[in-house]
Amino acid sequence: MSDKGHLPSHIAIIMDGNGRWARRKGFMRFRGHREGAESVREITRECAKKHLKQLTLYAFSQENWKRPQREINLLMKLLKEFLIKERKEINDNNIRLTAIGRVHELPDDAQRELAITMEGSKNNTGMILCLALNYGGRAEIVDAAKQIAKDVRTGKLGLDEITEETFKQYLYMRDMPDPDLLIRTGGEMRVSNFLLWEISYTELWVTPVLWPDFKKAHLEEAIKDYQRRERRFGGIRG
Ligand code: FPP
Repeated sequence: MSDKGHLPSHIAIIMDGNGRWARRKGFMRFRGHREGAESVREITRECAKKHLKQLTLYAFSQENWKRPQREINLLMKLLKEFLIKERKEINDNNIRLTAIGRVHELPDDAQRELAITMEGSKNNTGMILCLALNYGGRAEIVDAAKQIAKDVRTGKLGLDEITEETFKQYLYMRDMPDPDLLIRTGGEMRVSNFLLWEISYTELWVTPVLWPDFKKAHLEEAIKDYQRRERRFGGIRG
């Protein structure tokens, strides 16, 4: 199987390097996050224009709670601002907003703005913008396993019915296609507990460019590189 030359239909991004960007410029870390939010806007718009099926952004990981409370508050404030300010742009671009992660553990006001933006965009038919919020890949698998155990206990699901396909139905977004391309900015060669189940066959692209500097040209470069690759999904050259 090969999809050489095709546009990836689902891109996932680990947006790293906001803090380093700020430090290099002599700013507080928060300035880096604010600039990072600008990259979120630009990259979302570009991906929607390219008619991608889905863009998934790692906006807040479960591990991010370990940061100082002040930084967490600022990240939540930025998220709320984004959800309020971008409502119109999201609808104008026919984008449907969704979220994955333990969203019910986010602060109430962030949950409220998220719910309003998701509800307002639910009938849009263009690209899905999926924000990973309070997300952890292992937690996603644990949450799925717990629900499966419950369904087996109540007889809703038979033990032999647990296959990779049925397991997927218990993940946060059951109809989410696996990402074709995972981009990581900031140069680290790790997946950092992101979409562990879903990236089994995803192409990886890591760039030293820090997230606040990541713009349309870098996205194009990542897509070009992806298009040169041959995906065989464990098979042999066709
Ligand atoms: C990593 O930078 C990035 C994050 C912790 C979260 C990403 C958040 C944004 C891009 C801000 C706004 C998001 C939305 C959806 C509006 P880092 O602080 O770990 O950078 P460092 O590794 O250089 O310290």
